Amino acid sequence: MQRHVDDPNKPEVLAYPDAEALAPAAARFVLALATRRVAETGSFMMVLAGGNTPRGLYQCLAQPPFLHQMPWQHMHVLWGDERYVVPTSPDSNYRMAHDALLRHVPLTSRHIYPIPTGLESPQKAAADYDWRVWSLLTEHQGRFDLVLLGLGADGHIASLFPQHPALALGQDVFATVVDDAPKPPSVRITLTPSALNRAANVLFLVTGADKAPVLRRVLSETDQAPTLPAQYIRPTGGNVTWMVDTAAAGGSR
Ligand code: 6PG
Repeated sequence: MQRHVDDPNKPEVLAYPDAEALAPAAARFVLALATRRVAETGSFMMVLAGGNTPRGLYQCLAQPPFLHQMPWQHMHVLWGDERYVVPTSPDSNYRMAHDALLRHVPLTSRHIYPIPTGLESPQKAAADYDWRVWSLLTEHQGRFDLVLLGLGADGHIASLFPQHPALALGQDVFATVVDDAPKPPSVRITLTPSALNRAANVLFLVTGADKAPVLRRVLSETDQAPTLPAQYIRPTGGNVTWMVDTAAAGGSR
């Protein structure tokens, strides 16, 4: 385990032997943060990540002891991105979180805010979610308590891909359509860097040797202007933590 205690601007990087060891550590991280934020503010607003990596964390949170310790009734849950598919699709990020976590825990359905994919168009869905994010942030002192993110081998996060115009949207745009994603499905709705950076805490979960080259680059270029999407995540006054496995950290197993 490696910590950057010497420079508070550097992210904290915590390494675990494998994905199985990382998942319960991430669940302990989420529990500690949720408990503290609910004691301080009465609520905990968490943005979920898509992809496969967070599944282990979601499954842990749905089981004892976390099932009985998490402050579910005070939680609000959003998504960082969604593929433009029906919620029952195996490609749906909502479905993954629902199956692994949400259907097992006593989180009130009024506090679950999926990205809508049943409206007339992806543009309408993005506009709807943009308004949703804006109003939730307004009710919660302008900050998400926690944003979870995965990392693509090309450096993408959420549905923000390298060199995509969505990376350059203005500060007042919180959600947008991406209709040319290189990772299928090609049509997606994503939160923007402006929205994701309104996080008091960001937790990246990264596993697998295919992520090692890009992870090394993202973590070694923290002082430079961002080029890769993951480098756009620099929340002012927020904490950034990376939980990685040995393979992603570049070690062998
Ligand atoms: C998505 C994502 C995406 C994902 C990364 C990592 O919907 O595809 O949100 O940004 O987090 O591609 O995906 P894996 O965890 O499956 O490697």
